[in-house]
Amino acid sequence: ALAALGLTLGASAPTPALAADKPLVLGFSQVGAESEWRTANTNSIKDAAKQAGITLKFADAQQKQENQVKAIRSFIAQKVDVIAFSPVVETGWDTVLKEAKAANIPVILTDRAVKVSDPSLYVTFIGSDFVEEGRKAGKWAVDWAKKNAPTGEVNIVELQGTVGSAPAIDRKKGFEEAIQADPRLKILRSQSGDFTRAKGKEVMEAFLKAKDKKIHLLYAHNDDMAIGAIQAIEEAGLKPVKDIAIVSIDGVRGAFEAMVAGKLNVTVECNPLLGPQLMQLAKDVKAGKQLPKRITTEEGIFTADVAAQELPKRKY
Ligand code: AHR
Repeated sequence: ALAALGLTLGASAPTPALAADKPLVLGFSQVGAESEWRTANTNSIKDAAKQAGITLKFADAQQKQENQVKAIRSFIAQKVDVIAFSPVVETGWDTVLKEAKAANIPVILTDRAVKVSDPSLYVTFIGSDFVEEGRKAGKWAVDWAKKNAPTGEVNIVELQGTVGSAPAIDRKKGFEEAIQADPRLKILRSQSGDFTRAKGKEVMEAFLKAKDKKIHLLYAHNDDMAIGAIQAIEEAGLKPVKDIAIVSIDGVRGAFEAMVAGKLNVTVECNPLLGPQLMQLAKDVKAGKQLPKRITTEEGIFTADVAAQELPKRKY
Protein backbone atom coordinates (compact mmCIF):
# COMPACT_ATOMS: atom_id res chain seq x y z
CA ALA A 1 0.00 0.00 0.00
CA LEU A 2 2.90 2.34 0.83
CA ALA A 3 4.51 1.72 -2.55
CA ALA A 4 1.25 2.59 -4.23
CA LEU A 5 1.39 5.95 -2.48
CA GLY A 6 4.94 6.51 -3.74
CA LEU A 7 6.40 5.83 -0.27
CA THR A 8 9.04 3.32 0.80
CA LEU A 9 10.34 2.33 4.24
CA GLY A 10 13.93 2.87 5.40
CA ALA A 11 16.35 5.75 6.04
CA SER A 12 15.94 7.34 2.61
CA ALA A 13 12.17 7.03 2.48
CA PRO A 14 10.54 10.31 1.34
CA THR A 15 8.24 11.93 3.84
CA PRO A 16 4.55 12.04 2.89
CA ALA A 17 4.91 15.82 2.46
CA LEU A 18 7.69 15.37 -0.11
CA ALA A 19 5.72 12.71 -1.96
CA ALA A 20 2.78 15.06 -2.14
CA ASP A 21 5.06 17.77 -3.58
CA LYS A 22 6.09 15.52 -6.45
CA PRO A 23 5.21 17.44 -9.62
CA LEU A 24 2.12 16.23 -11.39
CA VAL A 25 2.90 14.67 -14.77
CA LEU A 26 0.53 15.58 -17.60
CA GLY A 27 0.67 13.88 -20.99
CA PHE A 28 -0.78 16.13 -23.68
CA SER A 29 -1.44 15.10 -27.27
CA GLN A 30 -1.87 18.13 -29.53
CA VAL A 31 -3.57 18.05 -32.95
CA GLY A 32 -0.63 19.60 -34.80
CA ALA A 33 0.56 23.05 -35.84
CA GLU A 34 -1.94 23.69 -38.63
CA SER A 35 -3.02 27.22 -37.73
CA GLU A 36 -2.19 30.42 -35.87
CA TRP A 37 -4.88 29.38 -33.38
CA ARG A 38 -3.14 26.05 -32.74
CA THR A 39 0.25 27.73 -32.15
CA ALA A 40 -1.36 30.04 -29.59
CA ASN A 41 -3.04 27.03 -27.93
CA THR A 42 0.25 25.09 -27.73
CA ASN A 43 2.09 28.09 -26.28
CA SER A 44 -0.66 28.64 -23.72
CA ILE A 45 -0.45 24.99 -22.59
CA LYS A 46 3.36 24.94 -22.39
CA ASP A 47 3.56 28.27 -20.52
CA ALA A 48 0.77 27.36 -18.12
CA ALA A 49 2.40 24.00 -17.29
CA LYS A 50 5.65 25.80 -16.36
CA GLN A 51 3.76 28.34 -14.27
CA ALA A 52 1.83 25.62 -12.46
CA GLY A 53 4.92 23.46 -11.78
CA ILE A 54 3.46 20.61 -13.84
CA THR A 55 5.74 18.28 -15.80
CA LEU A 56 4.34 18.33 -19.33
CA LYS A 57 4.94 15.52 -21.80
CA PHE A 58 3.90 17.10 -25.10
CA ALA A 59 3.30 15.20 -28.34
CA ASP A 60 2.42 16.78 -31.71
CA ALA A 61 0.18 14.45 -33.77
CA GLN A 62 0.67 16.25 -37.08
CA GLN A 63 -3.10 16.11 -37.68
CA LYS A 64 -3.15 12.29 -37.64
CA GLN A 65 -5.41 10.30 -35.33
CA GLU A 66 -3.06 7.30 -35.39
CA ASN A 67 -0.30 9.50 -33.92
CA GLN A 68 -2.62 10.62 -31.14
CA VAL A 69 -3.53 7.03 -30.32
CA LYS A 70 0.20 6.15 -30.17
CA ALA A 71 0.91 9.17 -27.94
CA ILE A 72 -1.90 8.26 -25.53
CA ARG A 73 -0.64 4.64 -25.35
CA SER A 74 2.85 5.92 -24.63
CA PHE A 75 1.51 8.18 -21.83
CA ILE A 76 -0.26 5.14 -20.35
CA ALA A 77 2.98 3.12 -20.52
CA GLN A 78 4.84 5.98 -18.82
CA LYS A 79 2.17 6.03 -16.06
CA VAL A 80 1.54 9.78 -16.27
CA ASP A 81 -0.85 11.20 -13.67
CA VAL A 82 -3.32 12.76 -16.13
CA ILE A 83 -3.78 12.59 -19.91
CA ALA A 84 -5.23 15.50 -21.89
CA PHE A 85 -5.75 15.75 -25.60
CA SER A 86 -7.36 17.77 -28.33
CA PRO A 87 -8.81 15.09 -30.61
CA VAL A 88 -8.16 15.57 -34.31
CA VAL A 89 -11.47 13.86 -35.20
CA GLU A 90 -14.60 13.03 -33.19
CA THR A 91 -14.84 9.25 -33.54
CA GLY A 92 -12.62 6.19 -33.04
CA TRP A 93 -11.47 6.78 -29.45
CA ASP A 94 -13.27 4.08 -27.47
CA THR A 95 -10.48 1.48 -27.43
CA VAL A 96 -7.61 3.72 -26.37
CA LEU A 97 -9.73 5.58 -23.81
CA LYS A 98 -10.77 2.23 -22.30
CA GLU A 99 -7.05 1.42 -21.98
CA ALA A 100 -6.49 4.70 -20.09
CA LYS A 101 -9.46 3.97 -17.83
CA ALA A 102 -8.17 0.45 -17.11
CA ALA A 103 -4.83 2.00 -16.14
CA ASN A 104 -6.68 4.40 -13.82
CA ILE A 105 -5.42 7.49 -15.63
CA PRO A 106 -8.01 10.29 -15.88
CA VAL A 107 -8.48 11.89 -19.30
CA ILE A 108 -9.37 15.53 -19.95
CA LEU A 109 -10.54 16.68 -23.39
CA THR A 110 -9.50 20.15 -24.48
CA ASP A 111 -10.73 22.22 -27.40
CA ARG A 112 -12.51 19.41 -29.30
CA ALA A 113 -15.07 16.82 -28.27
CA VAL A 114 -15.27 13.08 -28.96
CA LYS A 115 -18.18 10.74 -29.61
CA VAL A 116 -17.76 7.73 -27.32
CA SER A 117 -20.10 4.93 -26.24
CA ASP A 118 -19.38 5.57 -22.56
CA PRO A 119 -19.07 9.18 -21.30
CA SER A 120 -17.13 8.01 -18.23
CA LEU A 121 -14.14 7.45 -20.57
CA TYR A 122 -13.21 11.10 -19.98
CA VAL A 123 -13.58 13.29 -16.94
CA THR A 124 -14.35 16.66 -18.44
CA PHE A 125 -14.25 18.62 -21.68
CA ILE A 126 -13.09 22.23 -21.79
CA GLY A 127 -13.49 24.19 -24.99
CA SER A 128 -15.63 26.40 -27.20
CA ASP A 129 -19.19 25.88 -28.34
CA PHE A 130 -18.47 25.37 -32.04
CA VAL A 131 -22.15 25.18 -33.04
CA GLU A 132 -22.67 28.61 -31.47
CA GLU A 133 -19.64 29.95 -33.37
CA GLY A 134 -21.19 28.72 -36.62
CA ARG A 135 -24.50 30.35 -35.66
CA LYS A 136 -22.78 33.67 -35.00
CA ALA A 137 -21.13 33.52 -38.44
CA GLY A 138 -24.48 32.60 -40.05
CA LYS A 139 -26.37 35.42 -38.30
CA TRP A 140 -23.73 37.85 -39.47
CA ALA A 141 -24.16 36.55 -43.06
CA VAL A 142 -27.96 37.03 -42.86
CA ASP A 143 -27.49 40.62 -41.64
CA TRP A 144 -24.90 41.29 -44.31
CA ALA A 145 -27.30 40.06 -47.00
CA LYS A 146 -30.10 42.25 -45.67
CA LYS A 147 -27.91 45.35 -45.99
CA ASN A 148 -25.87 44.51 -49.08
CA ALA A 149 -28.07 42.29 -51.20
CA PRO A 150 -31.66 43.24 -50.44
CA THR A 151 -32.95 41.33 -53.47
CA GLY A 152 -31.85 38.23 -55.38
CA GLU A 153 -29.82 35.19 -54.49
CA VAL A 154 -26.86 35.18 -52.09
CA ASN A 155 -24.34 32.54 -53.10
CA ILE A 156 -22.01 31.30 -50.39
CA VAL A 157 -18.89 29.18 -50.64
CA GLU A 158 -17.74 27.36 -47.53
CA LEU A 159 -14.22 26.29 -46.54
CA GLN A 160 -14.67 23.51 -44.02
CA GLY A 161 -12.15 22.47 -41.39
CA THR A 162 -10.60 19.01 -41.10
CA VAL A 163 -13.03 16.31 -42.22
CA GLY A 164 -14.58 14.54 -39.21
CA SER A 165 -13.34 17.09 -36.67
CA ALA A 166 -15.76 18.54 -34.12
CA PRO A 167 -15.22 22.17 -35.21
CA ALA A 168 -15.85 21.34 -38.89
CA ILE A 169 -19.03 19.38 -38.11
CA ASP A 170 -20.41 21.85 -35.57
CA ARG A 171 -19.49 25.08 -37.35
CA LYS A 172 -21.20 23.81 -40.49
CA LYS A 173 -24.28 22.83 -38.51
CA GLY A 174 -24.57 26.17 -36.66
CA PHE A 175 -24.07 28.21 -39.84
CA GLU A 176 -26.62 26.22 -41.86
CA GLU A 177 -29.13 26.57 -39.03
CA ALA A 178 -28.70 30.37 -38.85
CA ILE A 179 -28.90 31.07 -42.59
CA GLN A 180 -32.29 29.38 -42.76
CA ALA A 181 -33.60 32.76 -41.55
CA ASP A 182 -33.24 34.00 -45.15
CA PRO A 183 -33.99 31.45 -47.90
CA ARG A 184 -32.02 33.51 -50.43
CA LEU A 185 -28.77 32.44 -48.75
CA LYS A 186 -27.52 29.23 -50.35
CA ILE A 187 -24.28 27.29 -49.92
CA LEU A 188 -23.11 26.92 -53.50
CA ARG A 189 -19.96 24.93 -52.78
CA SER A 190 -18.43 23.45 -49.66
CA GLN A 191 -15.10 21.68 -49.32
CA SER A 192 -12.45 21.01 -46.69
CA GLY A 193 -9.37 23.22 -46.52
CA ASP A 194 -8.08 21.22 -43.52
CA PHE A 195 -7.76 24.39 -41.39
CA THR A 196 -4.56 25.47 -43.21
CA ARG A 197 -3.71 28.59 -45.24
CA ALA A 198 -2.25 26.58 -48.12
CA LYS A 199 -5.32 24.38 -48.50
CA GLY A 200 -7.68 27.32 -48.00
CA LYS A 201 -6.00 29.07 -50.92
CA GLU A 202 -6.02 25.97 -53.12
CA VAL A 203 -9.72 25.22 -52.55
CA MET A 204 -10.73 28.87 -53.02
CA GLU A 205 -8.85 28.88 -56.35
CA ALA A 206 -10.95 25.92 -57.44
CA PHE A 207 -14.17 27.64 -56.27
CA LEU A 208 -13.28 30.74 -58.28
CA LYS A 209 -12.40 28.76 -61.39
CA ALA A 210 -15.88 27.21 -61.59
CA LYS A 211 -17.31 30.61 -62.71
CA ASP A 212 -20.85 29.23 -63.10
CA LYS A 213 -22.41 31.61 -60.57
CA LYS A 214 -21.25 34.77 -58.83
CA ILE A 215 -19.86 34.16 -55.34
CA HIS A 216 -21.20 36.75 -52.90
CA LEU A 217 -19.84 35.49 -49.61
CA LEU A 218 -17.14 33.19 -48.26
CA TYR A 219 -17.57 31.38 -44.96
CA ALA A 220 -14.28 29.91 -43.69
CA HIS A 221 -14.24 27.64 -40.63
CA ASN A 222 -11.02 29.32 -39.50
CA ASP A 223 -9.04 32.51 -40.09
CA ASP A 224 -6.05 30.73 -41.63
CA MET A 225 -8.16 29.31 -44.47
CA ALA A 226 -9.75 32.76 -44.93
CA ILE A 227 -6.30 34.34 -45.19
CA GLY A 228 -5.26 31.75 -47.79
CA ALA A 229 -8.52 32.37 -49.68
CA ILE A 230 -7.93 36.15 -49.63
CA GLN A 231 -4.70 35.53 -51.56
CA ALA A 232 -6.60 33.42 -54.11
CA ILE A 233 -9.28 36.13 -54.49
CA GLU A 234 -6.66 38.83 -55.07
CA GLU A 235 -4.71 36.68 -57.50
CA ALA A 236 -7.94 36.18 -59.46
CA GLY A 237 -8.15 39.98 -59.84
CA LEU A 238 -11.01 40.40 -57.36
CA LYS A 239 -11.24 42.46 -54.19
CA PRO A 240 -11.95 40.68 -50.90
CA VAL A 241 -14.77 42.39 -48.92
CA LYS A 242 -15.85 44.51 -51.94
CA ASP A 243 -16.39 41.67 -54.43
CA ILE A 244 -16.72 38.81 -51.95
CA ALA A 245 -17.65 39.31 -48.31
CA ILE A 246 -15.69 37.09 -45.89
CA VAL A 247 -16.64 35.73 -42.48
CA SER A 248 -14.32 33.41 -40.58
CA ILE A 249 -13.70 32.01 -37.12
CA ASP A 250 -10.90 32.19 -34.49
CA GLY A 251 -10.05 35.85 -33.97
CA VAL A 252 -6.29 35.44 -34.38
CA ARG A 253 -3.98 38.42 -34.88
CA GLY A 254 -3.72 37.68 -38.64
CA ALA A 255 -7.50 38.11 -38.97
CA PHE A 256 -7.39 41.46 -37.19
CA GLU A 257 -4.58 42.58 -39.49
CA ALA A 258 -6.61 41.48 -42.52
CA MET A 259 -9.64 43.43 -41.23
CA VAL A 260 -7.51 46.54 -40.66
CA ALA A 261 -6.24 46.16 -44.26
CA GLY A 262 -9.88 45.99 -45.47
CA LYS A 263 -9.63 42.36 -46.62
CA LEU A 264 -11.85 40.54 -44.12
CA ASN A 265 -15.31 41.55 -42.86
CA VAL A 266 -15.56 39.75 -39.55
CA THR A 267 -14.10 37.06 -37.30
CA VAL A 268 -15.94 35.05 -34.67
CA GLU A 269 -13.77 34.50 -31.62
CA CYS A 270 -12.60 31.02 -30.55
CA ASN A 271 -10.37 31.28 -27.51
CA PRO A 272 -7.19 29.12 -27.68
CA LEU A 273 -5.79 30.25 -24.32
CA LEU A 274 -6.91 27.14 -22.47
CA GLY A 275 -3.60 26.40 -20.70
CA PRO A 276 -4.20 27.92 -17.24
CA GLN A 277 -7.66 26.31 -16.88
CA LEU A 278 -6.34 22.97 -18.12
CA MET A 279 -3.56 22.94 -15.49
CA GLN A 280 -6.07 23.74 -12.75
CA LEU A 281 -8.35 20.94 -13.96
CA ALA A 282 -5.43 18.47 -14.01
CA LYS A 283 -4.62 19.37 -10.39
CA ASP A 284 -8.28 19.18 -9.36
CA VAL A 285 -8.84 15.81 -10.98
CA LYS A 286 -5.72 14.44 -9.34
CA ALA A 287 -6.94 15.78 -5.98
CA GLY A 288 -10.17 13.84 -6.50
CA LYS A 289 -12.41 16.90 -6.91
CA GLN A 290 -15.71 16.56 -8.76
CA LEU A 291 -15.58 18.45 -12.06
CA PRO A 292 -18.35 19.60 -14.38
CA LYS A 293 -18.57 17.39 -17.48
CA ARG A 294 -18.49 20.41 -19.81
CA ILE A 295 -16.71 23.75 -19.39
CA THR A 296 -17.48 26.25 -22.16
CA THR A 297 -15.29 29.25 -23.01
CA GLU A 298 -16.79 32.73 -23.36
CA GLU A 299 -16.31 34.31 -26.78
CA GLY A 300 -17.26 37.36 -28.86
CA ILE A 301 -17.43 38.46 -32.47
CA PHE A 302 -15.33 41.23 -34.03
CA THR A 303 -16.19 43.22 -37.13
CA ALA A 304 -13.76 45.25 -39.28
CA ASP A 305 -14.94 48.57 -37.82
CA VAL A 306 -13.53 47.68 -34.38
CA ALA A 307 -10.42 45.83 -35.62
CA ALA A 308 -7.91 48.72 -35.36
CA GLN A 309 -8.93 49.48 -31.79
CA GLU A 310 -8.98 45.79 -30.76
CA LEU A 311 -5.75 44.68 -32.44
CA PRO A 312 -3.34 46.03 -29.77
CA LYS A 313 -5.35 44.22 -27.07
CA ARG A 314 -5.25 40.81 -28.74
CA LYS A 315 -3.30 38.15 -26.83
CA TYR A 316 -2.95 35.74 -29.76
O1 AHR B 1 -10.34 23.16 -32.84
C1 AHR B 1 -10.17 24.53 -33.02
C2 AHR B 1 -9.83 24.81 -34.44
O2 AHR B 1 -8.68 24.07 -34.83
C3 AHR B 1 -9.48 26.24 -34.77
O3 AHR B 1 -10.55 26.98 -35.17
C4 AHR B 1 -8.57 26.05 -35.92
O4 AHR B 1 -7.88 27.20 -36.30
C5 AHR B 1 -7.76 24.93 -35.43
O5 AHR B 1 -6.89 24.41 -36.29
